[in-house]
Amino acid sequence: MTSELAAIVDGLNEPQKKISPKYFYDERGSQLFEKITELPEYYLTNAELDIMKTYVDDMAALVGPQASLIEFGSGSSLKTRILLEHLVDLAAYVPVDISQEHLWDSAQQIRKEFPAIDVRPVVADFTQPFALPTPAVMPVKNVVYFPGSTIGNFEHEASLDLLRVMYQEAGEDGALLIGVDLRKEADVINRAYNDRAGVTAEFNLNVLRHLNTSYGANFDLDAYEHSAVYDKDEGRVVVELVSQADQSFEIGGARFYIANGETILTEYSHKYTLEGFARMANAAGFTVAE
Ligand code: SAH
Ligand code: AVI
Repeated sequence: MTSELAAIVDGLNEPQKKISPKYFYDERGSQLFEKITELPEYYLTNAELDIMKTYVDDMAALVGPQASLIEFGSGSSLKTRILLEHLVDLAAYVPVDISQEHLWDSAQQIRKEFPAIDVRPVVADFTQPFALPTPAVMPVKNVVYFPGSTIGNFEHEASLDLLRVMYQEAGEDGALLIGVDLRKEADVINRAYNDRAGVTAEFNLNVLRHLNTSYGANFDLDAYEHSAVYDKDEGRVVVELVSQADQSFEIGGARFYIANGETILTEYSHKYTLEGFARMANAAGFTVAE
């Protein structure tokens, strides 16, 4: 068994069955996420695009000339385009993502739109060590860009670890430009993760499809339902798949039993306060500039 499959099996063996949210993102999952960003209920993308448009000059000034922009979880690089239009004399743009085909397609598109930029995509799981490419022009500094509140999909310790990795990647004189979602009314958040068109439900169920097609599992997709509830006390959305029957599934040569109503945890989406996030960033070595 590969170590990756062993980690999936370990998560399903826990008292609260778990699948890492990184398994949402095969080609279909990446497309479904793009559909989520266009939903009227999913306020995050439009809010962040507005912030980018309003403050891009300030952001570009903080990044400065001849930087290398390293984007974690770049997806379709939608917001990045706003930055790329404003950054001066960029040494390289390095989008990093686990969803290979989607990353290649997005990188090709960026190359077409910005022929002067050295685009160097890296397919990697950014929670594991990975090598950065050497750009043709030596950058003056590394700026890690991590939009979309993807940091919120990690639990506290794991997000601290990730921030520490970014601190290392940024290096001396480097910086992190990050987008995080703030705490707000529970209704607004619950609507964003329970859209009327059912796209988030499809996205959630896609994790089982992905494990079936790429990891030899045999989940019955019709026998699970999407659930997403904002836990105000913890400040996070709990995204789960609820079993609709007493049933079993197999993966990695192991058989698992799941009762009617039992859940598989597929994602947390943490929401922050500015102070709380600054504390976490400080603990990883960063000081907040803006
Ligand atoms: N940054 C984009 C996309 C966010 S969706 C935006 O703001 O809209 C999260 C992205 O992170 C997806 O493209 C997914 O494939 C990628 N991703 C999730 N976990 C990852 C991991 N462990 N390593 C690398 N990429 C990951
Ligand atoms: C990628 N990530 C920040 C999204 C979020 O909002 O936590 C993933 C998502 N899950 C359900 N809808 C969107």
